[in-house]
Amino acid sequence: MKAIERLRKALGRSGRNPAPDPGFRPATGMSYLDFLRRLHEQVAVGCYLEIGCRSGESFAPARSRTIGVDPFFSLRPQVMGAKPELHLFQMTSDAFFASGFLERNGLRLGFSFLDGMHLVEFLLRDFVNAERHGGPGGAIALHDCCPFTHAMAAREAPARKGLPWTGDVWKLIPILGRWRPDLKVQVLGCRPTGLVIVTGLDPESRVLTEAEGAILAEFGPLDLAGYGVERFYAGFDYVDPEAVAAGGFAFLDAVRLDPSATPAPVWVSP
Ligand SMILES: C[S@@+](CC[C@H](N)C(=O)[O-])C[C@H]1O[C@@H](n2cnc3c(N)ncnc32)[C@H](O)[C@@H]1O
Repeated sequence: MKAIERLRKALGRSGRNPAPDPGFRPATGMSYLDFLRRLHEQVAVGCYLEIGCRSGESFAPARSRTIGVDPFFSLRPQVMGAKPELHLFQMTSDAFFASGFLERNGLRLGFSFLDGMHLVEFLLRDFVNAERHGGPGGAIALHDCCPFTHAMAAREAPARKGLPWTGDVWKLIPILGRWRPDLKVQVLGCRPTGLVIVTGLDPESRVLTEAEGAILAEFGPLDLAGYGVERFYAGFDYVDPEAVAAGGFAFLDAVRLDPSATPAPVWVSP
C-alpha cells in the first residue's frame, strides 16, 4: 500500500481531519470503511441499500443485491465486485423512495447504510423510509452522527471541498432515544465520525412520521453548543467496532443469507 494511502487510512476518509474541540469524544476505532468492507465480506443480505454513495467505495465490497442512490455519482471502476445485481439511481433519496422501485419489485431491505444529505430532516426521512421498507430482523446504519468539532456539525456545508462535514445528523441519536425507545441503538466508535447501528426495526411504526413536525420544531434550530456537547456525549458509550466484527456482525444474523446463496461470479469468456 502506498504511503499516502496508509496515512489517509490512519486519519480517516479525508486525511485532513482537524483536532477535536474541547468536550468532544472523537471515535477512534476501526474506520467505517474498513468496518463496512469486513461486514460485506462476511455477510450478504437479500437487499442492501446505500444512500449517498459518490464514488461507490463504500458499496464496492458488497456481495448482496445492492441499490445505490446519489444525485451525483462519481464512480470508481470495479464497483460491481461479486454482487448479483447493482441498481444505481442518480437522484435524491426522496425521489428514489417516491419512485416505487422497491414496491414494484417486492424488495424488503435487509441492511441500509444512510450517508446522504447530512441534515437532520433528510436523515430522519431516510431513516423513516428505510425502516418502512425493511424486512424482519434487518438493520440500518447511520453515518457521521459523532462530530468532533463545532464547525463540522454546522448546518451549512463548508465552502471548501475536502473539509469534513457531519452537518447536524448527530441529532438522530437523541431523537431516536426519545421518540423510539423500542429501537436498539448502538453507537460504534468507527473513525472518524462514528457509525450508528439501529436494530429492532418496526416497518409498521408511524411514530416518527406523526411526530416529525414536533421533532424538527424542537431539534431543527438547535446547535450542538445549545444542546450541550457533554450532554450529547453522555447519552451513549461507544461500542468497539472491532468486537462487533470479531463477533461476526451478529446484529445481521436474522437477515444474513446462507453462503451457498451467494456464489462468486464466474469468468465465462475472454
Ligand atoms: C459523504 S458522501 C457519501 C460517501 C460514501 N458513502 C462513502 O462513504 O464513500 C455523501 C453523498 O451524499 C449525496 N447526497 C447529497 N444529498 C443527497 C440526497 N438528498 N439523497 C441522496 N444522496 C445525497 C452526495 O451527492 C454525496 O455523494
